Amino acid sequence: MAEGAGKPRILKGRHLLGVAELSIDEITALLDLAEEYASLARRRDRKLNTLRGHTHINLFFEPSTRTQSSFELAGKRLGADVMNMSVKTSSVTKGETLLDTAQTLNAMRPDLLVIRHQHSGAAELLAQKMSCAVINAGDGWHEHPTQALLDALTIRRHRGKLENVTVTICGDIRHSRVARSNILLLTRMGARVRIVGPGPLLPPNAERLGVEVYHRMEPALEGADVVMMLRLQKERMDGAYIPSEREYYRFWGLNEERLKLAKENAIVMHPGPMNRGLEIDSSIADGPRSVIREQVEMGVAVRMAVLDALARNLETEAAA
Ligand code: CP
Repeated sequence: MAEGAGKPRILKGRHLLGVAELSIDEITALLDLAEEYASLARRRDRKLNTLRGHTHINLFFEPSTRTQSSFELAGKRLGADVMNMSVKTSSVTKGETLLDTAQTLNAMRPDLLVIRHQHSGAAELLAQKMSCAVINAGDGWHEHPTQALLDALTIRRHRGKLENVTVTICGDIRHSRVARSNILLLTRMGARVRIVGPGPLLPPNAERLGVEVYHRMEPALEGADVVMMLRLQKERMDGAYIPSEREYYRFWGLNEERLKLAKENAIVMHPGPMNRGLEIDSSIADGPRSVIREQVEMGVAVRMAVLDALARNLETEAAA
């Protein structure tokens, strides 16, 4: 992987707040760069100096295993100084606001700030108030752009393209920022996207998203290239959206019989964390068609590509 100045600009914007702001060319360039980083990650000499001298802060107000650890690894593999801010032991617990916390961190002159927050729009707010590049690692029900990018990379590696690939997204679509970002990205790249789930867990006016809406799993899975299961997000439900977990599994869970309806070489995805035995059977999650662990691997590569792309813009700004 070539290092040094003069690398081509990949992203037009200063921040990565959502897929909605990305063009087809930007998405393709990010995926191509991530593919290079994915190859690099399998080598022993995988540490680079691309972000040497850059300070990268992870600020997570919601729990995370995959996103936070992969951003940390991505920053470290690129040579950045990475700080994981522990929100639980910070002055947030004494009532300090999001903005005061952000402005305090801003005074330490970071270059890149990765934020996850329970409120939609939190990343955008910080982008307006901070002088560094801001990356949205999930804001409320709104967007989770790096998850959609890593999902797209995983699909592209298995299908060779995104155009005309049929992707069925199943389950709790309404509360899912992963579904929202995936729908935006996959439809923009020419994939055919189907969504399916219980009526109360589908977004209002779902047809306007450019997807096909199904109300039963069987027709939604018929001939699919990709089956993307979503976690039932109990923490975002303020009422009874499903009669019972047993019934949810019966009608909406992915089992071997249902998976037979998809293409023989269909892949099964899940952003994690999984509710095994609720939205997906363990035999499928750990089975030969599951690419769930590959998604995690691609997460590091995609986050390296995003950090690199935004750092290039900072360098261009500094040189101007
Ligand atoms: N997919 C995802 O965002 O996982 P984490 O919540 O573990 O980061």
